[in-house]
Amino acid sequence: MPRLPPSLFWRARHISPGAALLLPVCRDFPSALTELRWIREHVKEKSRGRLDWEGRERILSLCRRRGRGEPLQYVLGTQPFGSLDLLCRRGVLIPRPEPEAYSLHLADLLLRESKQSGGSHKSLTILDACTGTGCIALLLYAQLQRKMKAADSLHVVGIDLAPQAVSLSRKNAVRNRLLSAGDSTSIKFVQCDVFSDDWLDHQDIKRLYQSPLDILVSNPPYISVDGFSHDTARSVRIFEPKLAQVPLPRGPGSEVDEDIFYVRLLELATRMDARIVLCEVGGLAQAERVVGLALNKGPLLNAEIWADHPDIVDVDCTNRSVTVAGREVPIKGSGHGRSVFIRRR
Ligand SMILES: C[S@@+](CC[C@H](N)C(=O)[O-])C[C@H]1O[C@@H](n2cnc3c(N)ncnc32)[C@H](O)[C@@H]1O
Repeated sequence: MPRLPPSLFWRARHISPGAALLLPVCRDFPSALTELRWIREHVKEKSRGRLDWEGRERILSLCRRRGRGEPLQYVLGTQPFGSLDLLCRRGVLIPRPEPEAYSLHLADLLLRESKQSGGSHKSLTILDACTGTGCIALLLYAQLQRKMKAADSLHVVGIDLAPQAVSLSRKNAVRNRLLSAGDSTSIKFVQCDVFSDDWLDHQDIKRLYQSPLDILVSNPPYISVDGFSHDTARSVRIFEPKLAQVPLPRGPGSEVDEDIFYVRLLELATRMDARIVLCEVGGLAQAERVVGLALNKGPLLNAEIWADHPDIVDVDCTNRSVTVAGREVPIKGSGHGRSVFIRRR
């Protein structure tokens, strides 16, 4: 990374000390001014529009945190995600644009299917394993609930091992006014370990798979220990929770360690007879391994790899596919292989 000339700092300090504090992380003047504006607006909003001495000190303190590399989402405390505005706190992974893109794509697909199938009463059950801020569960719930008919039912449950994630996802539901409404629509968050069996008896979970589960969606930890040390950005390593990114070792096994969650998720999909499974992956190689694991479990109606932007098709990305265990698996959309979509029945 090239060093910044002192003249840039002098110029920034002359305009605003906050901009100078932001330069080391923003790297250029226009970006520093944009972030400074966001930080100012945030502090102004918190102090009901007034910026007194305390407010100005607060701005400098937030600029200092940001300048040391802390992600903007933790500094400001929020991140937009589709139509939602989500609270972000240290200890819980910041929602990324990729889950936003595939959650919207999945919601569109489900709405299209529901329209095509006709019928008066429809019901949909969704389990979001490893929910974090609740971003995927909440966005699916928001998108689907908005278009539901009064007679339809929608039940979504997000689960996570980290108590701070479960507490934050509940706050995010309240913040975005996405609350359970009687017996027909509900969104719940439950603290549990994906690898244990205890939570399967929880009444909110049982309700999901009394009749077969419709959707199992997950963005699980999938980075190897080595990948975490060498390939992730410094700010991600320092400020975001490792538990959200790297699977904990679970004893000797034949699977590659970073794939361990997929093995368990596919086992749960079989147990709950999930119709659709959608899992985020770290790239095409992992996507192929996940499709391979799914094929090992039995025949699939359909398997696709969704790229970063599953709904955008540019010229270079048409007709892409890979072959897994003799089966051609299409890659949909543009960008890198980002999630695996499996239709089991
Ligand atoms: C990659 S993050 C995804 C968070 C969120 N779904 C998103 O897309 O931003 C993975 C999440 O899995 C949770 N987690 C890690 N191990 C778990 C386990 N054994 N059972 C349940 N959740 C777990 C972490 O706390 C973290 O919130």
